[in-house]
Amino acid sequence: MKYKSVHTNAIHAGEKQAKFCDALTVPIFQTATYVFKNTRDIERFGRKELAHYEYGRYGNPTQRAAEEKLAAMEGGEDCLLFASGMAAIATTLLAFLSKGDHIILTDDSYKKTFQFCVHELPRFGIETTIVKMGHYDELIKAVRKNTKIILTESPTNPYLNIADFSKLARIKKKIGGDILLIIDSTFGTPFNQKPLKWRCDLVFHSATKYLAGHNDILAGAVIGAHHLIEKIRMFQGATGGIIAPHCAYLLLRGLKTFPTRMERQNQSALQIAAWLEKRKDVIEKVYYPGLKSHHDHELAKLQMKGFGGVISFVISRPLRRVKQFLNALKLCAIAPSLGGVETLITHPACVSYYAYSKKERQKLGIVDGLIRLSVGLEDPQDIIHDLKRGLDRII
Ligand SMILES: Cc1ncc(COP(=O)(O)O)c(C=O)c1O
Repeated sequence: MKYKSVHTNAIHAGEKQAKFCDALTVPIFQTATYVFKNTRDIERFGRKELAHYEYGRYGNPTQRAAEEKLAAMEGGEDCLLFASGMAAIATTLLAFLSKGDHIILTDDSYKKTFQFCVHELPRFGIETTIVKMGHYDELIKAVRKNTKIILTESPTNPYLNIADFSKLARIKKKIGGDILLIIDSTFGTPFNQKPLKWRCDLVFHSATKYLAGHNDILAGAVIGAHHLIEKIRMFQGATGGIIAPHCAYLLLRGLKTFPTRMERQNQSALQIAAWLEKRKDVIEKVYYPGLKSHHDHELAKLQMKGFGGVISFVISRPLRRVKQFLNALKLCAIAPSLGGVETLITHPACVSYYAYSKKERQKLGIVDGLIRLSVGLEDPQDIIHDLKRGLDRII
């Protein structure tokens, strides 16, 4: 059953009314395989006359409930879950690409997606062209006869750039053929934006983030038309990056409160971003698509219902002082990841880009003063109080 409201879908979509032993919630089907009554049933299953689960790598009822719920929430026909966001991305790309193909990726994509496309895909004879985010003429010029996929993210990490879905869909239409337009909507979430409604073909999520929401599992998802998901499902059966039943259960549980959490994270982040913007004494610039000062604010307003829980800002102090700020915090935890109930803060120069030289970091726009804050569900005033404690330390 699908509903119009993301709140109702989050709780009821994908859940059959009659459950094992009349349980209210979907049980964890902790099983590797499924029993057939007799050989006749196996044969009927093989001829697709009998709906039945076969073996854990090809699906699980707990996983299926979470997939149907997420498909309904994203407004897609079908969904497939994976062991992590990266498993979703790598499996999907490999399912559609062959030797001699070409893909276009925007430059501020998640760094492991970037690594996979730029360093791993060439080993299989697949080329990637990187184009600057928001430079649509450059993107059009990059298209070749063998281009099969355009992949971008929105909002991006860490500057929260917004991809123009309508422009991208028009470019795809103009190119024609069977090119796929794929959006990694991890930062956007199905509460704040629906890329499929803008005629994008597939949506990726690192479900590790807002969807599961409790910083306790890794999971990934791809959502889109049945025939595309079915092709990826077949390929996943051969590559094996499946979600475990227990993780599927935790995701299902997290999804039920996701819209409510997201509403609050949107509100809190907007409030905190506005407060940070006032601290001109120590903050050079705040990046949050909900702020009028953000370069993509108008586009974000057009495409998004809320602006998410991630804020980036640049502290106008040298590296030593930036570390002092971080070390003075008591509530915000210094950790990578985002979207969960706990507020997390990262210093990209030290955490995600520690292996890069200062010159390489600067080329990627990762300046020493850059901080990324993922606003959790604590009282926003407590988060502000903690940030104030840190900032006051480095005045
Ligand atoms: C935008 C984006 N896509 C994909 C991923 C990969 O997800 P996972 O960590 O679940 O593999 C991440 C992880 O941070 C991400 O931020």
